[in-house]
Amino acid sequence: MNRVAVQPDAHFVNRYGPWGLVAGASQGLGAAYARELARRGLSVVLIARRSEPLQALGREIERDFGVAARPVTVDLSSPDFLSVIERETRDLAVGLLVYNAAFSNGGLFLDRSPESLLKVIDTDCRAPLLLTRHFAGQMRERHRGGIILMSSLTAFNGSPGLAAYGATKGFNLVLGEGLWYELRRAGIDLTVCCAGAVRTPGYEASVAAKSSFPPVLEPAKVAREAVRALGRRMIVIPGSFNRAVSFLMRRLLPRRTTVRIMGEAVDSLSLSQR
Ligand SMILES: NC(=O)c1ccc[n+]([C@@H]2O[C@H](COP(=O)([O-])OP(=O)(O)OC[C@H]3O[C@@H](n4cnc5c(N)ncnc54)[C@H](OP(=O)(O)O)[C@@H]3O)[C@@H](O)[C@H]2O)c1
Repeated sequence: MNRVAVQPDAHFVNRYGPWGLVAGASQGLGAAYARELARRGLSVVLIARRSEPLQALGREIERDFGVAARPVTVDLSSPDFLSVIERETRDLAVGLLVYNAAFSNGGLFLDRSPESLLKVIDTDCRAPLLLTRHFAGQMRERHRGGIILMSSLTAFNGSPGLAAYGATKGFNLVLGEGLWYELRRAGIDLTVCCAGAVRTPGYEASVAAKSSFPPVLEPAKVAREAVRALGRRMIVIPGSFNRAVSFLMRRLLPRRTTVRIMGEAVDSLSLSQR
């Protein structure tokens, strides 16, 4: 057995356990979130469309951390996704929800079909809204729990080349801020994670040219910082470079200038459709 030597975090398990659920867990940041929750002692529900990587991650987590893993294969952009998740988690007490999945749909707005734009809304807005409503309702009954909503630095200003995706990240940021206040009364912590570039399969597929700028963070670091922020911060921006850039763009530059800079950065990364 290759079990990693881990000491479960008893406070974390009491506050957010016994089960965590990661939506969008089959690779990248979602897989890193699942490992981070398991390392701290939570059993994990793993959600994505592809069954094979979910099963493999589940086996790895059970072996390495000695917790249970339950893979659930479902398309979060489908109209009835919630009924599948309700059915598959009915017997579990989910105390921590991480909504990580996204459809980023990079490229020029007018080159995208209406169907593909609506899929951005379904995956990045509708699904986190309904999952948060569902699991926060259960957490309220236990008067404890936590929620992490994955947003992005694109949430703060318009993002040419990623306009619809960036707008959904703004939705998650503003939704999370409102709920951070509302849900505190119900004993539920909420943190919105506004990440910069993270080295994930999704990110690597979206940038044609390998570039050393902007600095790209490892998924494990982002997941660790976001989970550590839960109960402490309403918004977390992992990485000191990202915090400095975000401060500059939000507080010091006119919005119009920021949008221009974002447009030029996206142009130089040659975004392809994801
Ligand atoms: N990577 C970055 O540079 C970066 C920067 C800022 C913010 N973020 C945010 O971080 C989060 C994760 O990004 P990432 O780069 O790790 O993404 P990724 O590599 O594309 O992975 C996305 C995950 O979500 C799942 N997923 C996507 N659509 C789904 C659907 N309709 N139903 C079920 N599962 C679905 C994918 O699994 P299946 O394909 O198996 O379904 C996969 O596990 C996103 O919210 C993104 O906006 C990322």
